[in-house]
Amino acid sequence: MQHTEGMLKPGSFKGKTILITGGGTGLGRSMGKYLLELGANLVISSRKKEVIDKSAAELMKETGGQVLAVACDIRKYDEVENVIRESEKTFGKLDGVLNNAAGNFISPTERLSHRAFDIVVDIVLRGTYYVTLAAGKNWIAKKQPGTFLNIVTTYAWTGSGYVVPSVCGKAGVLGLTRSLAVEWAKYGIRSNAIAPGPFPTEGAWSRLMPGELVKKFDPAARIPLKRVGDHQELANLAAYLLSDYSAYITGEVVTIDGGEWLRNGGEFSYLEELKPEMWDQLEKMRK
Ligand code: HXC
Ligand code: NAP
Repeated sequence: MQHTEGMLKPGSFKGKTILITGGGTGLGRSMGKYLLELGANLVISSRKKEVIDKSAAELMKETGGQVLAVACDIRKYDEVENVIRESEKTFGKLDGVLNNAAGNFISPTERLSHRAFDIVVDIVLRGTYYVTLAAGKNWIAKKQPGTFLNIVTTYAWTGSGYVVPSVCGKAGVLGLTRSLAVEWAKYGIRSNAIAPGPFPTEGAWSRLMPGELVKKFDPAARIPLKRVGDHQELANLAAYLLSDYSAYITGEVVTIDGGEWLRNGGEFSYLEELKPEMWDQLEKMRK
């Protein structure tokens, strides 16, 4: 058994339909592919119609599953409502929503324009709220259960310089996740989040570690488990949290980061740099 293998029983998602925002690229695409392998019908949406159309065709070929691609800017409520309508028209009903779409870039905060904050927070927080509201209202009106899974990251609670708009957006999404877990539990709606550490994707790497940065600050080096994440291990966790196997879990945020955020927060984590000889010397001093 390996972390790069699928984990759930074949057919776990048979008869279920899952919507993934930003599902045509990166982590959204990988999680979608695994859900298809497990028998789900998939709806992928993002702003770039050509990207989701291409991914939908590839995913159907790779898995033999059914994929509907609907263009949608999650900052536009009418477009969000349209995705839900189209999903139901094609597949009959929607069972789960994976709020994965995001926007991000690195910059010292004092160099940002006010619009730069708006652009990121509008995608990450307002967009996620719109998708959640539209899907939730629809499930509640139809007395249908449903599951939300929101992709945040660990700086949603630690904060982080240089990505402040994204921090504000993701912190809001985490608040939304926990709030609705309680408020909408009575409707049979669950709401959970995943906080990934670094998982290589073109979208994230090009914006967060452009140029030489990726060589200068190798993300694997600051992770206790000494590697970045593999898409399949994230897909395994996402599939579990969207599936009925996790029926009693709601309001939870599961971190999958190889120990990164705790290491960064640990007062004495820097002692990792001490060589064994130094520890020998310290032991002698103690005795
Ligand atoms: C400073 C920037 C900027 C940058 C844009 N802006 N990029 N400011 N540094 N690198 C400012 C612009 O100056 C402008 O403000 C405003 O933001 C809007 O810029 P546009 O280019 O017009 O925006 P748009 O074309 O809509 O693109 C949105 C985007 C883009 C967010 C900037 O990157 C995008 O489309 N991203 C989607 C995918 C993505 O980001 N994926 C990565 C997710 S990774 P002014 O005032 O000049 O008009 C992730 C990982 C988290 O979230 C955790 C990792 C561990
Ligand atoms: P990505 O490939 O760039 O994914 C972002 C997706 O969001 C794109 O498909 C993009 O498609 C879509 N999107 C952006 N703005 C949108 C809008 N207004 N409406 C609809 N869709 C929009 O990057 P990724 O690395 O896979 O990131 C996926 C998620 O994981 C994000 O939530 C990110 O914050 C989170 N995350 C990633 C990492 C990592 O290391 N990769 C770590 C922690 C968390 P369009 O451009 O076509 O709209």
